[in-house]
Amino acid sequence: MEQYIIKGGNTLAGEVEIGGAKNAALAILAAANMTNETVHIDNLPDVRDINALLEAMEGIGAHIERIDRHTVTVNGSGVENFIVESESMKKIRASYYLLGALLGKYKKAQVPLPGGCNIGSRPIDQHLKGFKAMGAVTKVEHGFIIAEAKTLHGAHIFLDMVSVGATINIMMAAAMAEGNTTIENAAKEPHVVDVANFLNSMGASIKGAGTDVIRIRGVKSLHKTEYSIIPDQIEAGTFMFAAAVTGGDIVLHNVIPKHLEATSAKLLELGCTVHEYDDAIRVIGPKKLLATHVKTMPYPGFPTDMQPQIAVSLALADGTSIVTESIFENRFRYVDELARMGASVKVEGNIAVISGVEKFTGARVSAPDLRAGAALVIAGLAAEGITIVDDIYYIERGYENLDKKLKALGAVIEKVASEKEIQKFQLKVG
Ligand code: EPZ
Repeated sequence: MEQYIIKGGNTLAGEVEIGGAKNAALAILAAANMTNETVHIDNLPDVRDINALLEAMEGIGAHIERIDRHTVTVNGSGVENFIVESESMKKIRASYYLLGALLGKYKKAQVPLPGGCNIGSRPIDQHLKGFKAMGAVTKVEHGFIIAEAKTLHGAHIFLDMVSVGATINIMMAAAMAEGNTTIENAAKEPHVVDVANFLNSMGASIKGAGTDVIRIRGVKSLHKTEYSIIPDQIEAGTFMFAAAVTGGDIVLHNVIPKHLEATSAKLLELGCTVHEYDDAIRVIGPKKLLATHVKTMPYPGFPTDMQPQIAVSLALADGTSIVTESIFENRFRYVDELARMGASVKVEGNIAVISGVEKFTGARVSAPDLRAGAALVIAGLAAEGITIVDDIYYIERGYENLDKKLKALGAVIEKVASEKEIQKFQLKVG
């Protein structure tokens, strides 16, 4: 088991390159199986979730070639087994994207029920509702979701709630269904748009992605493409809050500032300075952060995936803040860990009342999920003394080289794998 060990207190400054969006990449890789031709995908993050999906795709017969760390080609012509059996698939939520992709192309798919971060109950009823409306029969057997259709036809689908996963999954299946599909109350997240752009570059006909009504005209086949994935807004936001809590000055490259507007707006309320450029953003943290309130919402609202990172920042702010989590009910599991570092946070249902403290003190904490894990690392950067973050397995699901990127910005952080290495670090940094 590996840990991050951090000696806090350094001001982070410098430049950092943001990688490709994990959550866009997961769907795009699944969709790449929908053509028999070779698809070239660039700006792929090299993180555990992506590698688990690539492995599962090979398991069903796709041919994957890694051109370099961030570039792959996918050829799905060899896919002949519609049963996704990989053990690792059970652990990642996005396994369900193979359901929409395979159902669209082959009219049948069998995928393990998704797992993923423990951030609350994660039903997929809206995905299944969409598939059923298009003529598929779905059932759950022996831990698998099975979806099958004699013919998949277009349908008018009104989602009961805004769901990124359901929007993308239905969009993929509908891209190769007969006739027209309309998705109402669709998610508007940048990665929904990215997946639509990717499918359109393969010959699909999808209009309206980025609005709450998406119209899809099914096509018979899709063709090869070359595609570069959008930058990861959550990785970017994580570094923006790292600048905020350390009173730092960080320039992030390879970002789309428009996708970060909700985060930038909150950073301004916290007292940070934010400069936007074409594909870069600079965040300068203040001497003392200011308290504010925040509620997570679907895009363009403040993202749930940034909630732990802003909460950590508010825990160091001057005054009392209220954080309302409106997407996932179980996303405050890091609060007990943060309390070990001296934070004062009281959770009532989906609301956290945060009374800012003067400083955090380093402690041994454990990452309860991906984003909360990253937030604890940020807390460690700001804390006095040494913080050890256990269970960084979660963090590595979605962040590539988080430790190395932070180190390049002046953080004192190491990835270690034993108590001996922890002691060595402690001796080294004093
Ligand atoms: C995606 O999850 C992301 N995961 C999550 O990122 C992200 O937190 C979430 O969207 C919200 O932005 C991937 O893209 C792989 P939803 P997803 O469907 O698609 C409810 C990260 O840290 N719902 O938009 O699963 C659901 O319970 C991860 O990178 C249903 O009730 O999220 C939730 O309350 C964590 N029925 C809300 O909708 C359904 O059929 C939004 O979920 C589907 C969803």
